[in-house]
Amino acid sequence: MDVLKGQEGFDAFYSAMYSERWPALKAALLAPKKHVAVANPYAHHKFTEVPLTVSGLTFDHDVRDIFPSPEKNHHDYMNYYLMDAASILPVEALDIQPGEKVVDLCAAPGGKSFLCALKLQGKGLLISNDRSAARRARIHRIFDDYIPKTEQKNLTVTSYDATKWSLYQKSMYDKVLLDAPCSSERHVLEDSKELALWAPGRTKAIAITQFAMLASALDIVKVGGTIVYSTCALSKLENDDIIAKLYQKRPGRFELMRKEFSFGEPTEFGWQVLPDTTGWGPFYLAVVKRLR
Ligand SMILES: C[S@@+](CC[C@H](N)C(=O)[O-])C[C@H]1O[C@@H](n2cnc3c(N)ncnc32)[C@H](O)[C@@H]1O
Repeated sequence: MDVLKGQEGFDAFYSAMYSERWPALKAALLAPKKHVAVANPYAHHKFTEVPLTVSGLTFDHDVRDIFPSPEKNHHDYMNYYLMDAASILPVEALDIQPGEKVVDLCAAPGGKSFLCALKLQGKGLLISNDRSAARRARIHRIFDDYIPKTEQKNLTVTSYDATKWSLYQKSMYDKVLLDAPCSSERHVLEDSKELALWAPGRTKAIAITQFAMLASALDIVKVGGTIVYSTCALSKLENDDIIAKLYQKRPGRFELMRKEFSFGEPTEFGWQVLPDTTGWGPFYLAVVKRLR
């Protein structure tokens, strides 16, 4: 049988995965993206005309304004960071406490690292890692635009390959965020060239890398520590199937911590936010606690 590729293959693949939900899901993926604004506690410059929906990391998810770009005054810091509301959930799920050692394995451009840094309140350690030099520059820019230098002493940016990290360190971190590279179907749908090149082998190949990263994360987090695995993928191969594989390949070494949020839906192993029902996402996360 011929493997369907390009737009036709994409539709057939996701329609088989999401069945009667796919047409509404596809329409929602093509709708303009919405943002929440995460208020920057370090900024003195506030915009009174902007109805901020975020205070610290809690936000009113019913308000979906499209905000103007963040700004700063001379010598000040950006007043807020714009992101998809679902992107806040993995950091909430990590439950970072000031003083903990945290690694964000795939950190660029850096929105979630910024949230992790706020949670640490200048105490402990945050390593924001990304293999791409160009994207690492964006992490530095966000830190410098949002956080005073005096409050950056516990922040480090590194350039390691997340799939190989456990060759060099073991049992080091209280919390590990693995916001993995993924199929990003929303971007594929928006880009006709990308869509024309799509083939089902792509999600299968990415899933192999994602599993290698998660296996590495399980070795570098401390016993009793927490990993949040997340993607913006729709493909189940990159979401619940990665956790299923961890059960197969690392039995007894972890347990799942089930979390519920005010928007989105449970999956077999994690939580998923899909735009047809929530207006946010797509986003998937699962919370893994290392047992041994
Ligand atoms: C989904 S993005 C991360 C988004 C980021 N967490 C944020 O919230 O801004 C995935 C990132 O993984 C990085 N990446 C891909 N392969 C990697 C690897 N083997 N090791 C480390 N980083 C990698 C990419 O450069 C990309 O920036």
